[in-house]
Amino acid sequence: MEAKLSRAAKKLTTSPIQELSHLAQCCNAINLAEGFPDFPAPLHIKNAAVSAINSDFNQYSVLVCNLRHVQGICDHLSQMVKEIHGLDINPLTDVAICCGQTEAFAAAIFATIDAGDEVILFDPSYETYEGCITMAGGVPVSYLLPIFISNFIHVPLDPPQWTLDPSKLLRSLTERTKAIVLNSPHNPTGKVFTKEELEIIARACCSQDCLAITDEVYEHITYDTVKHISLAIFPGMQERTVITSSLSKTFSVTGWRVGWAIGPAFLASAIRNIHIKVTDSAPAPFQEAALTALRSPPEYFQTLKSDYQSKRDFIVKLLAGVGFKIQFIPQGSIFLFAELPEDCLLSDVEFVKKLILEAGVVAVPGQGFFHANLSSNGISEGSCSYQKRYIRFAFCKSHETLAAVSERLGNLLNGEGFLR
Ligand SMILES: Cc1ncc(COP(=O)(O)O)c(C=O)c1O
Repeated sequence: MEAKLSRAAKKLTTSPIQELSHLAQCCNAINLAEGFPDFPAPLHIKNAAVSAINSDFNQYSVLVCNLRHVQGICDHLSQMVKEIHGLDINPLTDVAICCGQTEAFAAAIFATIDAGDEVILFDPSYETYEGCITMAGGVPVSYLLPIFISNFIHVPLDPPQWTLDPSKLLRSLTERTKAIVLNSPHNPTGKVFTKEELEIIARACCSQDCLAITDEVYEHITYDTVKHISLAIFPGMQERTVITSSLSKTFSVTGWRVGWAIGPAFLASAIRNIHIKVTDSAPAPFQEAALTALRSPPEYFQTLKSDYQSKRDFIVKLLAGVGFKIQFIPQGSIFLFAELPEDCLLSDVEFVKKLILEAGVVAVPGQGFFHANLSSNGISEGSCSYQKRYIRFAFCKSHETLAAVSERLGNLLNGEGFLR
C-alpha cells in the first residue's frame, strides 16, 4: 500500500534532527540539537495565556470580517513594523496570522509557487524550506558548483564568514525564478545579512521581477551592535516581499504555534485563505496571549538580547577552548555553527554520534543544512568537504544546562584538554 503515497510524501523523510533527538533521549543526552529553550517562558505572557483559557477563549478564534484571528495582533504588528522598519502596513489587509512561522512560510509557498517554478535558497539553510517547496512542486535551487552540474552555477554562502558572492547569486537566476527565500538572522550560521548584501538581493529580485519570502523569526535576537534589517525596506521590495515570523523564539514559546505573514494585500489574502483551509485558525488562547507578548516593554527585548548574548559568549568560549574552530561568531539567532578541529578525522555525523554516546550531549551535524554537492545518501562529495566539518549547537538553554554541557565535554578531552 505504500505505493499509494503521493510523490511529495515519498520525498519527505524524517528530519535527521528529529532522529538524533530520539537517540539523544534514549541516551539521556543534553539536547543542544533543537532550537527550543529549556527555560521558562516569561511570566507575564504565561499569565495572559492562563487568563485567556480561564476566560473561555476556547473556540475557533474570533471571526472578524471573515478572518479567524485576533485583530489586535495585526494592529500591533503593523505598529511594530512601522517603528522598526519604517514600513506602512494595513493591519486589516496585509497580515495573516498562522500556526507559527512554519505554517506562514508553507502558506506563502503554496500561495505563490507552481510546479516547475524555481525558488532560490541560500546554502546552508534551515531544512524546512526545501520540503515545502517540494510539496508545492517547485524546484529548490541550491547553489551548485559547476563541476557537478554545469548548467546551475550557483554558490553557497562562502565559509568561514558565510559571505554572499553577488555574481554567484546573479548567475543563479533564471526566467523560471519565482522567489528568493531569505532567512536573516540565519539558521544555522548565526549570520545577519548586511545592508550591502540585502541591497544586492533586493536588486536581484527587482531586476528579475521575482518575489522574496523572508524568515525573520530571530528578528529580535541580534548581538553586539549588529541590527536586523528587513529585506522589505529596500526600494521596490515591499510590494514583492512576504515577511514571516512568529512568537516562538522571541518569547520562548515554540509550542504555542502563533506566527504571521506580512505582505501586500493580495499575498496576505491568499496566505490567509490557505491557512483557513489547512488549519482554520491559530490557537485562540495563545493568540490572546500574543497580544500581551507583543506589547512587552522595550526592556523585555533588551534583556532577551543580553541574556542570549551571554549564552552565546559562554558556548563560543567553551567550544573554542576544547579545540573547535570558531571563525564566525554568531551575530544573531540562537545557534553556533562550529567547525571541527583540523586534526579531528571524524565527519560531522561521526562526531555527533561520539558526542551523544561518550559525552551525553547531542548537537546537529552540519551537512543536513547543505543542499549542494550532496549525493543521494547525504554524503558530501568532492572538494566541498567543508560541508561535513560543521556541527550546529543550539545555545537557547539555561545556564545550568550549558554548565552541564561543559562538564560532560570533559569526557571527550585528552590530557591537554582538547577533543580527542
Ligand atoms: C530559521 C527558522 N525559522 C522558523 C523556525 C520555526 O518557527 P515557528 O516555531 O514559528 O514555526 C525555526 C525553528 O527552529 C527556525 O530556526
